[in-house]
Amino acid sequence: MKEMLDNIAHQWRQPLAQINSTVGAIDKLLYDKNVHDPLLEEKLQEIEALTKYMSNTIDDFKGYFANNNSKAKVFLRDVVEQSIAIVRANLEENQIAIETKMDANYECECYANELKQIIVVLFNNAKDALLDRNVYQANIEVEIALNDGEYAINIYDNAGGISKSVREKMFEPYYTTKHKSQGSGLGLYMSRKIIRERFHGEINVSNVNKGSRFSIVFPKENLS
Ligand SMILES: Nc1ncnc2c1ncn2[C@@H]1O[C@H](COP(=O)(O)OP(=O)(O)O)[C@@H](O)[C@H]1O
Ligand SMILES: [Mg+2]
Repeated sequence: MKEMLDNIAHQWRQPLAQINSTVGAIDKLLYDKNVHDPLLEEKLQEIEALTKYMSNTIDDFKGYFANNNSKAKVFLRDVVEQSIAIVRANLEENQIAIETKMDANYECECYANELKQIIVVLFNNAKDALLDRNVYQANIEVEIALNDGEYAINIYDNAGGISKSVREKMFEPYYTTKHKSQGSGLGLYMSRKIIRERFHGEINVSNVNKGSRFSIVFPKENLS
């Protein structure tokens, strides 16, 4: 399954990019020929939106199937830092601040690459919510804690929280409140599945203060 999805992701990325540049070329052709047809332009935009949606879906997956999906001994702090590195430029561009509280040097032997991807998914969701709601002084905070033999990686945002009706469905596959071209609805579903199966843990969500808190929890001594 893993290998198959990895191959599909690989094979689709290139043609999707090509479809997009073909649309761009058609656009230019029409412009050069002085053709202005609103319906045609709308249809071209539709193609663009659909291919964007498909590559977003691939993005939600690809990290899980990257080269090094083996267990490794890592510091959780480093895993979080690597996740931040992936989204940092994008957050800065959108004027979203990110803070960390991770003083302790917690170590774990785990599928670090998958954990990194899951944290990225949660960051991107927070970013989307912050932008969607146009939040002033947008902020994401990450903390790592150890309670009763369980690690917790907590991610807070100040995007206003999540309604009960969304909370009840958000971990279902393909559930998204985002526009068709934006959301795959697979991020949380995949993330929870991996945390359950690979980490014998859980992803919990609650509303706190001015936004939501996503909590990735798993036993310190991994069970498999
Ligand atoms: N931090 C957040 N704040 C508000 N809503 C959120 C947050 N994270 C997730 N959601 C909601 O959960 C839904 C499902 O998320 P996800 O599974 O990652 O799919 P997608 O991001 O593709 O929509 C989102 O569409 C959004 O409505
Ligand atoms: Mg998402």
